[in-house]
Amino acid sequence: MQVTLCRLRTHQWCFLLFNVVLFHVLLFGADFVEEYFLRSLPRVDMKILSIKNKARKLNLEPLRHNPSKYYVLSQPEVCNGKTIFLLSLIFSSPGNATRRELIRKTWGSVTSVRGYPILTLFALGMPALVATQEELDAEAQENNDIIEGIFLDSSENQTLKIISMTQWAVAFCPNALFVLKADEDTFINLPGLVDYLLNLKGQMEGIYLGRVIHQDIPNRDPHSQEFVPLSEYPEKYYPDYCSGEAFIMSQDVARMMCVVLNEAPIMVPADVFVGICAKSLGLTPSHSSRFSGERHITYNRCCYKFIFTSSEATDAETSLAWKEMNDGKECSVFETYYGLISCKLLTYLDSFRHFHWRSSEDRAGYFGD
Ligand SMILES: *[C@@H]1O[C@H](CO)[C@@H](O)[C@H](O)[C@H]1NC(C)=O
Ligand SMILES: *[C@@H]1O[C@H](CO)[C@@H](O)[C@H](O)[C@H]1NC(C)=O
Repeated sequence: MQVTLCRLRTHQWCFLLFNVVLFHVLLFGADFVEEYFLRSLPRVDMKILSIKNKARKLNLEPLRHNPSKYYVLSQPEVCNGKTIFLLSLIFSSPGNATRRELIRKTWGSVTSVRGYPILTLFALGMPALVATQEELDAEAQENNDIIEGIFLDSSENQTLKIISMTQWAVAFCPNALFVLKADEDTFINLPGLVDYLLNLKGQMEGIYLGRVIHQDIPNRDPHSQEFVPLSEYPEKYYPDYCSGEAFIMSQDVARMMCVVLNEAPIMVPADVFVGICAKSLGLTPSHSSRFSGERHITYNRCCYKFIFTSSEATDAETSLAWKEMNDGKECSVFETYYGLISCKLLTYLDSFRHFHWRSSEDRAGYFGD
């Protein structure tokens, strides 16, 4: 091997080098470009100044004084007198007690990172069955970590859920610096995320961070469940928004959101709704490719220590990832590099297979019509 390498001519070396560079550009180029060019300067005009002013004077006393009017379970005391660095609100469905238990035992059990306190709570709507409500009451009594809004928990009501939970965070946990919204099937690397937030070097305001979706178009198919009528949202594109599986807002952003909530169209997907509110606040979402968005990242220990989130994490994978990430073994630069290459390649292969499978299904649907 060494002998053959030594015998390479300059142009052969160049070719080798070129291939190595090309491989990295193909693999990581998009992430890099997204991260550094999707940013633009925040807008400031009179309207935004007036929103800021209203946010400062926002009165959520009615919520605090009469929580039972807005929430079935409201945990009004959990944040009292505590400084919280990151409040993570996990959007869970009422019937999924086993998933909640798994999260409590795995990544949700982290209560502080480098001494910065973290609080993890579950955000729910109401179940359709009375029996499930009784189970929820017992679960909440035992764990004190369930917030339940007064609306039916359904896929159509996710925007209501985000509204209700944002108001909860501002009313009952105003001393939490950052609020994370995450879906229950997403794996979250809390230590990685906290390190990243600490590296923002004291920038604690105006943060709306996640995997940014650029120029998404509304669903105009009237037969679809996600149909958005023109009367609700007339524009061609949605504003840039953070993909809903997991994203972060700073407390001031959550507070300003409460001011503009009533002006945004409600019949759009919940994450788009947040994006529309953010736009009216003059906020541009910040992108990090370490949020996986809707993608599942194929498990690799050192890769999972680097990324922030992975969607569609199975119970088994969540347990395995949690166990291996906490076995005390660090990842060297080389291991992280190797881990990233490996999980990126495998994820691409997976999504390719998924895409292939989906498109053949689409075709089948098309011919079946
Ligand atoms: C959303 O929640 C409201 C309030 O509970 C309920 O009346 C409505 O049926 C729910 N919508 C759907 C589609 O589940
Ligand atoms: C519970 O969560 C898992 C993983 O997120 C999901 O696959 C499943 O459909 C959920 N079950 C219910 C009843 O919502």
